[in-house]
Amino acid sequence: QRILSLTLAVAASIAVSGAAYGLDSKEPIQPIAAAKTKNPALAELGKKLYFDARLSKSGFISCNSCHNLSMGGTDNLKTSIGDHWHEGPINAPTVLNSSMNVAQFWDGRAADLKAQAGGPIANPGEMGFTHKLAVDVLQSIPAYVAEFKMVFGSDQVTIEEVTKAIAAFEETLVTPNSRFDKWLKGDKKALNANEVSGYKLFKESGCVACHNGPAVGGNSYQKMGVVEAYKTASKAEGRSAVTGKDADRFNFKVPTLRNVELTYPYFHDGEAATLKQAVETMGRIQLGKKFSDDENARIVAFLKTLTGDQPSFKLPILPPSSDLTPRPQP
Ligand code: HEM
Ligand code: HEM
Repeated sequence: QRILSLTLAVAASIAVSGAAYGLDSKEPIQPIAAAKTKNPALAELGKKLYFDARLSKSGFISCNSCHNLSMGGTDNLKTSIGDHWHEGPINAPTVLNSSMNVAQFWDGRAADLKAQAGGPIANPGEMGFTHKLAVDVLQSIPAYVAEFKMVFGSDQVTIEEVTKAIAAFEETLVTPNSRFDKWLKGDKKALNANEVSGYKLFKESGCVACHNGPAVGGNSYQKMGVVEAYKTASKAEGRSAVTGKDADRFNFKVPTLRNVELTYPYFHDGEAATLKQAVETMGRIQLGKKFSDDENARIVAFLKTLTGDQPSFKLPILPPSSDLTPRPQP
């Protein structure tokens, strides 16, 4: 009963989001297109900052340490390792396609990528720095000062500019042309029969109630444990940390399933090591379904068709520190 009403409610919202993307709403998932960069110079600066470990106290940790673009925009760890080998409380979600999220973080506490980007630099358990020190480092590097001036027109680097540039780079991290997208657009040979049957199961079992839209998720908060409580050692309580509402306890942002083959381990606590486990858990606790091994394998085969073109660019070469640049701190 509860699942049915959930499915119906979400089916209505799917129809709306399908229309918003100018597609007919026959399929609950829509293809994505490559990102169009409005301001390439801004995104290029953001790319450098994304890879620059000098924005961390130790001089060792960059955004790419935990959101490694060679590994699906994640660290493939249960929970991230930050400054002083601090083991974080939560799994690092992918930055790929994160511009499509309703908000950022598992609990949605940052409204957008720009609001998010200031967080890790000053988080003691992540990059362990302060915004002032990060700006001091950049301001001491002549080539950065020149590049900020070219992009923003002023001589003084600000944290606003830093987060704006990083967000602009992240907006380029969209992964089009997955085999599933090709199939959606009419290339029926892009998937094999096994994968198509996995998609049918994914739809008909009700996974699309929460994993829908162009990002196959990322657009709502849902309870982790609809039918059966989720057992975890993690202390994260999800959305209620932001809203203060008891009803939002254990509601998490539904993750995008694009590139999910690359973004293991799964769930906010990173407890599911494999897609097989994640699918088993989702079926059981969200939908009250026990999939056979064959059904599980078909859904997993479908999920693996969601891997798109990964970001592809020349590694940015970072401008060297000057004699005045503050040095990394232990
Ligand atoms: C979350 C970007 C540095 C670990 C996120 C999200 C984005 C992001 C966009 C939200 C994704 C989503 O909600 O779907 C960045 C950028 C960084 C950076 C631009 C550099 C300025 C780091 C570092 C670490 C890290 C160095 C590890 C030490 C995490 C974790 C989360 C997260 C654990 C989830 C936190 C939560 O939801 O409470 N990051 N990140 N990030 N990032 Fe980063
Ligand atoms: C997470 C698949 C049904 C809500 C996930 C993940 C996978 C997945 C692979 C892990 C993604 C990651 O960590 O990056 C499926 C499949 C389903 C299904 C195959 C059908 C059998 C649902 C339904 C809902 C839902 C019906 C909503 C009622 C969520 C949420 C998370 C999640 C909230 C994050 C949970 C957390 O980490 O605490 N799903 N899902 N899923 N899914 Fe599903």
